[in-house]
Amino acid sequence: MSTMHAVRAHARGGPEQLVYEQAPRPEPGPGEVLVAVKAASMTPDELTWPETWTYTADGTGPERTPVIPSHEFSGVVAATGEGVRSPAEGEAVYGLIPFVHDGAAAEYVALPAALVAAKPSTVDHEHAAAIPLAALSAWQALVVHAGLQPGQHVLVQGGAGGVGSYVVQLAAGLGARVSATASAADLDFVRGLGAEQVIDYANQRFEDHVRDVDVVVDLVGGATQTRSFAVLKPGGVLVAIAAPPDQQEAARHGVRAVFFIVEPDPQALRAIAGLVDDGRVRPVVDRVLPLAETRAGYEALEKGKRRGKIVIHVAD
Ligand SMILES: NC(=O)c1ccc[n+]([C@@H]2O[C@H](COP(=O)([O-])OP(=O)(O)OC[C@H]3O[C@@H](n4cnc5c(N)ncnc54)[C@H](OP(=O)(O)O)[C@@H]3O)[C@@H](O)[C@H]2O)c1
Repeated sequence: MSTMHAVRAHARGGPEQLVYEQAPRPEPGPGEVLVAVKAASMTPDELTWPETWTYTADGTGPERTPVIPSHEFSGVVAATGEGVRSPAEGEAVYGLIPFVHDGAAAEYVALPAALVAAKPSTVDHEHAAAIPLAALSAWQALVVHAGLQPGQHVLVQGGAGGVGSYVVQLAAGLGARVSATASAADLDFVRGLGAEQVIDYANQRFEDHVRDVDVVVDLVGGATQTRSFAVLKPGGVLVAIAAPPDQQEAARHGVRAVFFIVEPDPQALRAIAGLVDDGRVRPVVDRVLPLAETRAGYEALEKGKRRGKIVIHVAD
């Protein structure tokens, strides 16, 4: 059996479970591609999601350990399984791996060919790996769940983060008026992404600065989410990804409230690659760590502040 370098968790838990070690190198099954991973990226809280540890989307059933984390990647097709016509060996691809499969904190990952898209050609693998999960979350929040229209007013709760940096750029690109909340050190950064108004969430109350908003994209949850209902106009929508909103509170305010889990969507990834290559969306990378230091990346996600994504460099 051939092996590869990988980061794995042998038991459920947090970053302390992650070990850099040799693991079996996967083989592409029928309809799959084997990708030589160049870079992968990580998401806060993913080690707490039940589907990270099991074979089912609802987290039921037997444990899947040992598991490989980091489910967004950029790399090169190293081999194709039976029946795969596209992409071909040698093509640069990127994508989001469903969380019930092993992730990409490894030299190789096998996944259905139908889930990958051609990597944007104008950015390197580290920046491409910072796109799939975060940009798809932003795209699905705005386009699929909010049905955003040009001229509408969007409030992005958490505009400087991994997902928020795409929500701000995509919403502005779709012709919306964008307000966002962020830390004091990130106000100019978020304005540079396309927000007209950026509110320092630690020192200002967003309710004092925005009202009659059409769409709130909430990337924070908790009290921030609850308080967000009051700034929506009747008929508006709150789209949340960090925590499910209270439907009774939504009904009380006469608004719609949606929680969703991001889904792989290669067609949307192709559209996003086009926006990146046209210079209309830029991936934001906070820092790049070597594969062997993946655990430190997950520890940093639990503690510090950052702009955009933490990326793992796997191979040159
Ligand atoms: N449901 C899904 O499919 C899905 C998909 C992707 C992500 N998520 C979840 O969505 C959340 C966001 O992910 P992410 O990758 O964007 O995380 P992130 O990079 O940590 O970004 C979160 C942002 O929120 C800001 N923030 C923290 N407290 C705030 C507050 N009270 N008001 C306004 N902003 C505040 C942070 O700013 P500072 O760092 O400056 O404090 C940070 O910029 C995470 O919980 C993640 O697990 C869910």
